[in-house]
Amino acid sequence: MQLRYICPVCGRTMDISGHSYVCPARHSFDIARKGYVNLLTTSGRNPAKAGDDPDMVKARTAFLDSGHYERLARTVGGMAGDHAPGGSVIDSGCGEGYYTAIYAAMQPDAFFHGIDISKTAVNHCMTRIHAAGLNNAAFAAASSYALPFESSSADMVISTFAPVVNDEYARVLKKDGVLVVVSPSPRHLFELKAAVYDEPYENKANSYGLDSFAEEDRRILEYQTTLVSAQQIHDLFLMTPYFYKTSAEGMERLSRLDRLDVTCGFVIQVFRKKGE
Ligand SMILES: C[S@@+](CC[C@H](N)C(=O)[O-])C[C@H]1O[C@@H](n2cnc3c(N)ncnc32)[C@H](O)[C@@H]1O
Ligand SMILES: [Zn+2]
Repeated sequence: MQLRYICPVCGRTMDISGHSYVCPARHSFDIARKGYVNLLTTSGRNPAKAGDDPDMVKARTAFLDSGHYERLARTVGGMAGDHAPGGSVIDSGCGEGYYTAIYAAMQPDAFFHGIDISKTAVNHCMTRIHAAGLNNAAFAAASSYALPFESSSADMVISTFAPVVNDEYARVLKKDGVLVVVSPSPRHLFELKAAVYDEPYENKANSYGLDSFAEEDRRILEYQTTLVSAQQIHDLFLMTPYFYKTSAEGMERLSRLDRLDVTCGFVIQVFRKKGE
């Protein structure tokens, strides 16, 4: 089921009027030509210029389209369908829509709401949805810390390599709602780190402080893949947090590689909202 957006200024439910979403207090948000709506405000935790910039979105799209993470998308889509079939799903921090489009195609009876703080990313989500001919997904530029949905309205929230926000996810989920969190496993991309760091380290587990949720299922998905060009290695590196932490010398070492075997490792956790 499609959810209704709430106004990011006053929190009241909005309706479509012409080419805008409008709340009863007449706060108005234009629907972009491609069909998404920008619900970011410039105050508080919603800075308009946050999240992935255009170069990062481009690199993410090129890398994801190469198919290396398709197994992850299909595994998460399958687990999501097992735990909360149908209903309304929020993909929080959805990026450029690769996963959301796969989930929506796998579950035609569910409705998927992607939100991301990067307008460029959300714009690209619409391109994916139109190209795939999907009509069970909608996208908004918004923050995971202030989701533009009514309280107790959603059946599921999915967060893949994106912010995990206990209070806000508990607010929007219905009673017994499901939260799926995808994070890197300890060995994720270890070989990429070994290529740029003298002392590569394994990823540490993050507990996320999910006080309002109880873990119900957990799966570790690990497989090897081969990056087959310097461009692919560069695109993947740009998607990672290591990009910001690497010396010029590390970048130089990386740029000399045109093939690399890497471990893709993901922890997929399924949580259920605890009773009040
Ligand atoms: C590592 S990317 C993951 C994107 C997508 N889920 C994927 O796996 O391809 C993190 C995403 O979170 C978004 N992001 C960062 N802070 C955010 C926030 N406060 N609210 C919503 N999205 C945010 C970024 O713009 C980026 O698209
Ligand atoms: Zn309003």
